[in-house]
Amino acid sequence: MRAGILSLTSYTPERVMTNADLEKIVDTSDEWIVTRTGIRERHIVADDQATSDISVICAREALENVGLAPEDVGCYILATATPDMLFPSTACLVTAKLGIDKLDGPPAFDIAAGCTGFIYGLSQAKSYVESGMYEHVVVIGAESLSRILDWNDRNTCVLFGDGAGCAVVGKTDEGGIMDCLLGSWGAGGHHLTLPAGGSLNPASQETIDNRMHYVHMDGSDVFKFAVRAMGLGCKQILKRTGLSPDDVDWFVPHQANIRIIESAAKRLDIEMDRVLISLDMIGNTSAASVPMTIDYAQKKNLIKKGDKLLMVAFGAGLTWGASVVEW
Ligand code: ACO
Repeated sequence: MRAGILSLTSYTPERVMTNADLEKIVDTSDEWIVTRTGIRERHIVADDQATSDISVICAREALENVGLAPEDVGCYILATATPDMLFPSTACLVTAKLGIDKLDGPPAFDIAAGCTGFIYGLSQAKSYVESGMYEHVVVIGAESLSRILDWNDRNTCVLFGDGAGCAVVGKTDEGGIMDCLLGSWGAGGHHLTLPAGGSLNPASQETIDNRMHYVHMDGSDVFKFAVRAMGLGCKQILKRTGLSPDDVDWFVPHQANIRIIESAAKRLDIEMDRVLISLDMIGNTSAASVPMTIDYAQKKNLIKKGDKLLMVAFGAGLTWGASVVEW
């Protein structure tokens, strides 16, 4: 018996921010952003939306697609770098907003693995379902990154966008999640941080004055890590599943930068017409990036039953992860 993705949905916030909009805020240009990153626009959550709200929208739809009620789910896993608050977990907030209100509600927890979070969650869900621990697991990747960006820092604010994706994982007779492979390089974690608001640097006037409650990133170090980690993850998972790059119908890389994606595809000998791209429309949506990209392709009827998807991501931690799924 194998676990598979029974339903996958995404939610893209309505408000659009184009590169031209950013030109009015920071010293940047559409030309720089497009040539250096491939991003043309991103979507931003409404003033009254938090990560739990956008998660609930796509979770409801994903559950409806397979005829499940929220309380039928064995476990809720939510990957995010932008939880509503430090605690309670956003996953618990989502269960409450889905209407579950009982003492023995399903377990719900967040995963903090940056942009790799959805693949970390998928791996956890696969283990739970295949071990028989839970019949159905909801895995959400959701971000409101616009809330933690320094809109004065052109090095970071042009890169990210908001959004959510949700998968219902359960047992399947055909296809399914063939394998997941996860890794981390904690010693490189300082290259991508949100320094304040935790136990190390509790929020204070000083942390605010020093802009420590915003994303800090060494772009070129993360870039180098991304290229190496994506190459390593893909090669290892293809070896473990006995597949060659030619067997991959769709390569689904984390959508951080078109140059990182092109470099990873080239290293794997996968032509760009087998690579799913969404970053031009939504930017880097971190933990939501992989499921949103799959859903965009699904809505265009690009993905057929039996297709093999190779997903790979990297992110804060630093973390990386890969998965092969037969659709
Ligand atoms: N507009 C105009 N100029 C800019 C901008 C901008 N938005 N941003 C940076 N620049 C300038 C820099 O100041 C620099 O100027 P200087 O030479 O005068 O100092 C110049 O452009 C080149 O900067 P680089 O950092 O060398 O640009 P690079 O080509 O490396 O691209 C980028 C920067 C896009 C950040 C790239 O390094 C990258 O994509 N890194 C990976 C980032 C990433 O994937 N992050 C997500 C991690 S996942 C997660 O968990 C959130």
